[in-house]
Amino acid sequence: MKRTTLTQFLIEQQRKEQALPAQLRLLIEIVARACKAISHTVNKGALGGYLGSLGTENVQGEVQKKLDVLANEILIEANEWGGHLAAMASEEMDTIHRIPNRYPKGEYLLVYDPIDGSSNIDVDLSVGTIFSVLHAPEDSSGRDVREEDFLQPGTRQVAAGYAIYGPQTLLVLSVGTGVFEFTLDREMGSWVMSDERLTVPEGQKEFAINMSNYRHWAPPMRRYVDECLAGKNGPRGVNFNMRWTGSMVADIHRILKRGGVFMYPWDDRKPDMPGKLRLMYEANPMGYLMEQAGGMAVAGHERILDVAPSKLHQRVSVIMGSRDEVEVIAAYHRDAASSQQTA
Ligand code: AHG
Ligand code: MN
Ligand code: MN
Repeated sequence: MKRTTLTQFLIEQQRKEQALPAQLRLLIEIVARACKAISHTVNKGALGGYLGSLGTENVQGEVQKKLDVLANEILIEANEWGGHLAAMASEEMDTIHRIPNRYPKGEYLLVYDPIDGSSNIDVDLSVGTIFSVLHAPEDSSGRDVREEDFLQPGTRQVAAGYAIYGPQTLLVLSVGTGVFEFTLDREMGSWVMSDERLTVPEGQKEFAINMSNYRHWAPPMRRYVDECLAGKNGPRGVNFNMRWTGSMVADIHRILKRGGVFMYPWDDRKPDMPGKLRLMYEANPMGYLMEQAGGMAVAGHERILDVAPSKLHQRVSVIMGSRDEVEVIAAYHRDAASSQQTA
């Protein structure tokens, strides 16, 4: 069977869909190549001395794994010379990384989570890389890019994707014309298309949430999960299954392929924070992919891609997956909000 490579796909997108300016095509090729290098280091694990923590803390207040920092460096080195970016930002860097003056600057901003699911690295469970692409603001071409240039709502993304380092190494991406999946052919070193125009199936009864936080959730979240647990004899009249991998990339990939819903909602452990996951390089790119695949992504009942960012590392409540299930959860949040207003 003739297989389409990532390069062929991107050239066809450029030709057919006019969706792909040359600089954006270069950006995606370079990020995809960097993900091959990250996959190589993840796969070597202990043999490469890549496991374990550095003992340092990142801006999130989380202990950094060696691979968090290495993957971040791989993405910086791969991207800063190409002339396609104005600046980069990452979960592992306090503030933005401007392109050094010795290199030409481009029109895009790349924001990414170099290793998602870090807690799984040392126990050989799937981890991934998540990336989101924005345009640098028009008025930024004559000046240094600033952090606030990144603070654009998810609807302004021009591309997004993730790599997942699991039993296979996959690259899943969209440039606004649907979601496409590529599998890394290690012998040839090329990304080969293995699925196209992914659509999130509906009618699937599988939810993903960290149940240990149950007592901390808001009522509408507990209402939804209670009904899932009540199964056939409960209000939903059907039994549900549950999965939680601790890697957003792995849970979201499963949902893109076989449906279901992923939730990391607000909880009262840190009531002033809207949730654990980060808007710019976890919720927005994954929300973009979900919507491109016919799914839905909300923060309670607001569309995630409409959230106006105020800080680079801001967090957000995340509920995304099959449209039918997310609509149920969003409705419960709207009901709770309106009954609070009338109370
Ligand atoms: P990261 O490793 O980039 O910090 O992301 C981990 C995130 C996400 O991937 C996952 O869904 C979630 O943290 C798991 O959180 P819990 O360990 O609280 O379940
Ligand atoms: Mn992450
Ligand atoms: Mn991470």
